[in-house]
Amino acid sequence: MTNQKKIIITYGTFDMFHIGHLNLLKRLKSMADTVIVAVSTDEFNLQKNKRTIIPFEQRIKIVESIQYVDKAIPEISWDQKTSDIEKYNVDIFAIGKDWEGKFDFLSDYCEVVYLTRTKGISSTEIKKSLKSLLSIPHAELRRAFDILEILRKDLE
Ligand code: CTP
Repeated sequence: MTNQKKIIITYGTFDMFHIGHLNLLKRLKSMADTVIVAVSTDEFNLQKNKRTIIPFEQRIKIVESIQYVDKAIPEISWDQKTSDIEKYNVDIFAIGKDWEGKFDFLSDYCEVVYLTRTKGISSTEIKKSLKSLLSIPHAELRRAFDILEILRKDLE
């Protein structure tokens, strides 16, 4: 079988879809003919202690609209991977290097690859920054915005 006939699958939350996510999906399409993306549901994310900004229905719509994605399915549990691999005749399981080694057991079912993450962008980090903003007292934030407004006017 040539490389182009392969089926690849990945799993993820894809909250606040960004360039790191896009690069990963583009890379997957360069490795196989068919790209399947399992998008974590809000309920499954809660099990992982992960809260998203964008609800599941929107995240999966965004992912399935990406030109590099052939099919998007919900990810509802940790242990669906083996049945997905069998159901969709998957040749390659791929995921970012942040998961390196965690899914080696899937190599009984298909090839397992860990891909380099795009540097400097992460929805988790953006969420952390937003959270830290919430801890700044309201009056201080107001002052900061006033200063920004003055700076912006200076630029006009
Ligand atoms: N990813 C990537 N480069 C990034 C961010 C994410 O390649 N800068 C990859 C992840 O490694 C994963 C996929 O995109 O394979 C989906 O990531 P996701 O499950 O949404 O969450 P995180 O890994 O936490 O990514 P983020 O920090 O952006 O939330």
